[in-house]
Amino acid sequence: MKYDKHFFVCQNERSDPSKKSCGKEQAQMMVQALRDSVRAIHSEPTASIRVRAQACACLDACADGPTLVVYPEGVWYGGVQPADAHEIVEAHLGDGSPVRRLQIHRPQANDSMVHPIQANDSMVHRPQANDSIEATKQ
Ligand code: FES
Repeated sequence: MKYDKHFFVCQNERSDPSKKSCGKEQAQMMVQALRDSVRAIHSEPTASIRVRAQACACLDACADGPTLVVYPEGVWYGGVQPADAHEIVEAHLGDGSPVRRLQIHRPQANDSMVHPIQANDSMVHRPQANDSIEATKQ
């Protein structure tokens, strides 16, 4: 596995305003908030942890949006706002226990779920040089 923690944030934005979608602007703010939180939490180097936060295509949990999922735990969140980022990062870079108040339940990888990277590859955000966050773990 390339990253120790991988945060995927839905950036899907429908042209039909009558259908709920998470939205590009929301996703960009959330991804930035996640990255800022990782840097804030792991500013003192002791051991390296590879973390990535990125936008992705629709996670097929639109009614619960804005949504994000964290791997390798496979924990899903709904109704997330940038103000929630610090709590989510702290939980997953800490003991890995989910933030229950934001958690939504989705199928696990061994069910018939399609991983977001595979859902629609042409819509998936491609990694950029500055996307990855090399942080440290205490
Ligand atoms: S629009 Fe975000 S989960 Fe579908």
